[in-house]
Amino acid sequence: MSALVRLEAVSKSYATPAGTVTAVQDLSLEVAQGEILGVIGYSGAGKSTLVRLVNALEKPTSGRVFVGDDELTALPEKRLREVRREIGMIFQQFNLFRSRTVAGNVAFPLKLAGVKQPERDARVARLLDFVGLLEKAHAYPEQLSGGQKQRVGIARALATDPKLLLADEATSALDPETTADVLALLKRVNRELGVTIIVITHEMEAIRAIADRVAVMDSGRIVESGPVYDVFAHPSTTAAARFVATVLHDRPSADTLTRLRAAHPGRLVTFAVPEQKGFTGQLSRAFADHGVENEIVFGGIGELQERSIGALTYELTGADAAIDAALDALRARGVDLVEEVELEEQTA
Ligand SMILES: Nc1ncnc2c1ncn2[C@@H]1O[C@H](COP(=O)(O)OP(=O)(O)OP(=O)(O)O)[C@@H](O)[C@H]1O
Ligand SMILES: [Mg+2]
Repeated sequence: MSALVRLEAVSKSYATPAGTVTAVQDLSLEVAQGEILGVIGYSGAGKSTLVRLVNALEKPTSGRVFVGDDELTALPEKRLREVRREIGMIFQQFNLFRSRTVAGNVAFPLKLAGVKQPERDARVARLLDFVGLLEKAHAYPEQLSGGQKQRVGIARALATDPKLLLADEATSALDPETTADVLALLKRVNRELGVTIIVITHEMEAIRAIADRVAVMDSGRIVESGPVYDVFAHPSTTAAARFVATVLHDRPSADTLTRLRAAHPGRLVTFAVPEQKGFTGQLSRAFADHGVENEIVFGGIGELQERSIGALTYELTGADAAIDAALDALRARGVDLVEEVELEEQTA
């Protein structure tokens, strides 16, 4: 796996009248050639700053940024322009030229790159065909829906054949259905054209839909990263767990737990659902072996990257020692007991 993008201990601070703001802090990251990396974080986490560091619109305060074999800060301006041409960008607000047609928007970077007619027209037609907007070639941006505008943005970003595409909240202004279409298009850009993509978002659904790997940003740092399935199945930080919960709804929120506790006097235990079949049967047998009564009180099982994922919360009733023995037996068989709501908490 060769890295197309590599950040080594990168920090970026801004001097403001109110003092120094550190937008990105000691951040190291590799993006492999050909992958889709999702970067998720709340507002102010430093996501857009990260994007501007990768496309060399900003220089790091410390640390180094590589795209391919080039270290950006070490490049002369001419080479930097060439590297930037290999990086496409799409934006939340599309940033189309209102006075140019759809075709004119897509042709613009080709003009800048000195591509002459008729090759330019041919490329524009091919790109518009790829994004499904050939018949809108002569329309103006204001005549298009949001999803169509973003398709134009994608076609324009691909015009100069970039190796890397940076999408900064590219679907945040779109409704859920249009978002799904645009994400599906980005996936085709990746799979069919081989373009490496960094998707910046605050929506975990976007990550679930297309990313291969995810990095969770919080206060300028990456606090957790890994293959999307792994982070969804086993988020290890509160930040990641919160984002996962917005998509899976498989684990009870604090409010739901309070209601569950009120309604269920037994011990509440949450299990992560593994990929293998027969999980609930395995649990039932262990509980029966130890004389523990059980009832599923919360949960959800879904699919992610064609693998099952989810969690089930059980109420377990019986002698404490029997419940402990059943849980120990399950743990010994590799069952992932995510969480037990503490007894003190239950009575608090
Ligand atoms: N040019 C700048 N000057 C001063 N502070 C900045 C500048 N750019 C970003 N910041 C600060 O750095 C932090 C990170 O900003 P950034 O735009 O990278 O966050 P973000 O994760 O993209 O947020 P959002 O989801 O709202 O777009 C914020 O506190 C922001 O105010
Ligand atoms: Mg931003």
